[in-house]
Amino acid sequence: MERSVPVSFFVKWPVNTKEYPKKEYQFMKKIILTGDRPTGHLHVGHYVGSLQNRVMLQNSGDFDEIYFMIADSQALTDNAENPEKVRQNVLQVALDYLAVGIDPEKATIFIQSMVPALYELTAYYMDLVTVSRVQRNPTVKAEIQQKNFENSVPLGFFCYPVSQAADITAFHATHVPVGEDQEPMLEQCREIVRKFNSVYGETLTEPDIYLPPNKACYRLPGIDGKAKMSKSLGNCIYLSDDAEDVKKKIMSMYTDPTHIQVSDPGHVEGNTVFTYLDAFSRPEHFAQFLPEYKNLDELKDHYRRGGLGDVKIKKFLNKVMETFLEPIRTRRRSWEAHPDDVYDILEAGSKKAAQKAGETLAEVRRSMRINYFEDRSLLK
Ligand code: TRP
Repeated sequence: MERSVPVSFFVKWPVNTKEYPKKEYQFMKKIILTGDRPTGHLHVGHYVGSLQNRVMLQNSGDFDEIYFMIADSQALTDNAENPEKVRQNVLQVALDYLAVGIDPEKATIFIQSMVPALYELTAYYMDLVTVSRVQRNPTVKAEIQQKNFENSVPLGFFCYPVSQAADITAFHATHVPVGEDQEPMLEQCREIVRKFNSVYGETLTEPDIYLPPNKACYRLPGIDGKAKMSKSLGNCIYLSDDAEDVKKKIMSMYTDPTHIQVSDPGHVEGNTVFTYLDAFSRPEHFAQFLPEYKNLDELKDHYRRGGLGDVKIKKFLNKVMETFLEPIRTRRRSWEAHPDDVYDILEAGSKKAAQKAGETLAEVRRSMRINYFEDRSLLK
């Protein structure tokens, strides 16, 4: 799918015509890049917030190239003393990817630190970003607070929005499917792209965020009703949990503390079971598992009126969640039995990603006119 290259591109620098312009058409293609920090197994929040969307995009056939990155070096920015945790979770995240249906034939799965060009790009981009600009990034701000970094923020952590811009632009990504907490990173990335292109000439591609279709999917709470699922709070349902664990977790979910007797009227807002049903249930689940209700609205109405017990809605939620968790679990087991195949996929993917990012780096160096030995006349 070749589209025309903007004319402005061809008239940037009057350099060696043999070498330049050597831009590929690929930067006009539709390209996906996204990733995850390997700090733990992926959970159902990741699934509704991003993974499900990725598989849908992957299978749509609408994209020319798709990259899924396991962001180990970003994970190290706040886990420097824990490289083993990061190392182990690289494989776990890869297994989760394959389990949800990411297909290595259609998408390139790679490990961030195996792509050296990303670090060189980061270094050049850092010259285009001020300290105060990063300090204003609301996600970084919130994370610094959460992690109690106060005055001891690792420099690598502080700069991760810039390194994330390198991840995205190295692949000329046009679409970045992530949760809404990543919007400030995308904004930062677009600023870097605009600044780079205006200073050095049209080179990088501005990406768009690609949010999940359903609002309820934006931030799934933990099973305790706390705002965020997190490993340290022990409130996650992992994609790798077995059916027994999932059931136990759902049966222990936070609901409505004022709904004591079944006959009591109940609250649906802030009730974790209903938040999950908003995210996961579809009308056909009612026909299949709870035919006395047509849809979620009817179920909610009954709960509000009173006369509907928590156990019943929890059992329903469990069945709904198993409709997607069971196939994920089965696929995960089959990959777990062949870890060598998973390593092969990661190795081949990383090689391919390194190649592509290396090409972008060459374009960047050319635009910055630091491609010294491609054009000796640059050195006067
Ligand atoms: N920051 C993302 C996360 O915490 C991971 C990530 C790193 C990423 N680089 C990226 C996501 C580039 C999208 C694009 O999950």
